[in-house]
Amino acid sequence: MGSPHTPRPFRRVCLLTAGGDAPGLNAVIRAFVKRADALGIEVLGSEDGFSGLMESPRRVVPLDRASVRGILHRGGSILGCSNKANPFAELVTAADGTEASVDASARVRSNLDALGVDALVLVGGDGTMYMGQRFVEQGVPVIGVPKTIDNDLGVTDLTFGFDTAVSTATWAIDTLHSTAEAHDRVMVLEVMGRDAGWIALESGIAGGGDIILIPEIPYDIDRVVAHIEARAERGTTFSLVIVGEGAYPVGGAPSVLQAGREGHLPRLGGAGERVASLLRERMKHDVRVTVLGHLQRGGSPTAFDRVLGTRFGVHAAELCHRGVRGRLVVLAGTRVTDVSLAEAVSNPKRVDPNGELARTARAIDIELGG
Ligand code: F6P
Repeated sequence: MGSPHTPRPFRRVCLLTAGGDAPGLNAVIRAFVKRADALGIEVLGSEDGFSGLMESPRRVVPLDRASVRGILHRGGSILGCSNKANPFAELVTAADGTEASVDASARVRSNLDALGVDALVLVGGDGTMYMGQRFVEQGVPVIGVPKTIDNDLGVTDLTFGFDTAVSTATWAIDTLHSTAEAHDRVMVLEVMGRDAGWIALESGIAGGGDIILIPEIPYDIDRVVAHIEARAERGTTFSLVIVGEGAYPVGGAPSVLQAGREGHLPRLGGAGERVASLLRERMKHDVRVTVLGHLQRGGSPTAFDRVLGTRFGVHAAELCHRGVRGRLVVLAGTRVTDVSLAEAVSNPKRVDPNGELARTARAIDIELGG
C-alpha cells in the first residue's frame, strides 16, 4: 500500500462490483480499464464483489482491453456481484451449526498487499461505500463509483442503472394499461427501490399511473379507494396503482420477506399484495398484482446509463492516475466530479413528499396516498 500522504499515480488497482447489480456496470468496467490502460495503470478484478478477496484461494483476474471487448451493451457485470460478501461482517458457521459475523477486513488487506495493489476501486451502493470508508480509515486508498437502480445516494444527482430500471417499469405500466382497461381491473404493480420511491414515482408519472405509493409517504388506504371510486364515477373503470416495495400504510411498517442481520439489509417483499388485499376488503373491483422484481435490474442498459457509466469509469481511472484516495465519483448537475467518500456515507436521497416531483404528480391528479 502507498503512504497515506504522498499523492502518486496508482500503478496497479483492484476493481470490484459489489451489492446488487445495476445495468451499466459493464460500461463502467470497460471505460475504467480502457482509460487506465492508456494511463499505464494495471487493473485486476475481484470476482463476485468482495468474495474474490475474502475467499481462499482468492478469485482475482487481470482485466485488459481484450477482456472488456464487446461488453458495453450487456447487463450484469463481467466480474459478478455479491450483496452477501461483507468483509466487516462475514457470516461463519461453527461446527455446532451456530452462525456468527466476523471481521474479515484484515484478510482483504493482506490479499491486496500480496497482489501488490495500490488502491481499491469499489463500484457499489451505499453499503459498499460504507465498507469503502472503513477501509479508508484502515489506510487503504479507495476510489468509489456509485451504483444503484434505487438512485438513493444523496451525493450524486443520478446513479447509472436507475434510468434502465425506470424504463423497464414504465414498459410494465404501459403493458398493464391495456389489460387493466379491457377487464375493468385495478392493476397493482410493485416496483423496487427499497427505502426510496424514485423508481415508483418516475415510472408512475412516465406510465400514466393513477396512484403511486412510496415509502416516503405512508399511505391512507381510504384515499386510494376514494380515488379509484371517483375515477369509476367519471366512467373510468380501471386504475393503475404503482407501489414502491418499501411503501406501507400509515401506522404500519414496510413488508419484509426476510429479516436483516448485522451488515446485511432485510429483504423486502409483499407491499403490492398488501395494498391489493386492503383494497379487496374495501371494494368490489377485481384487483390483480404484478411484482416486477429483478426484471428491473437485468437486461441491456439504456443509452443514458451506458454514457453515465462510461463517464464515471473514465473519471475513476483519472482519479487513480492522480493518486487520489477516499473519493467518490458523482454527477453534480450535468458535470461528473468527485466528493469525499466520508460525505457519501449516511447521506441517503429520499423523495421529498412536498418536493417538485411529488407536487407535479399531484398536480396531474395522481393520488400519492397521503
Ligand atoms: O438496492 C437495489 C435493489 O434492487 C433494491 O431495489 C431491492 O430491494 C434489492 O436490491 C433486492 O436485492 P436482492 O437482489 O438481494 O433480492
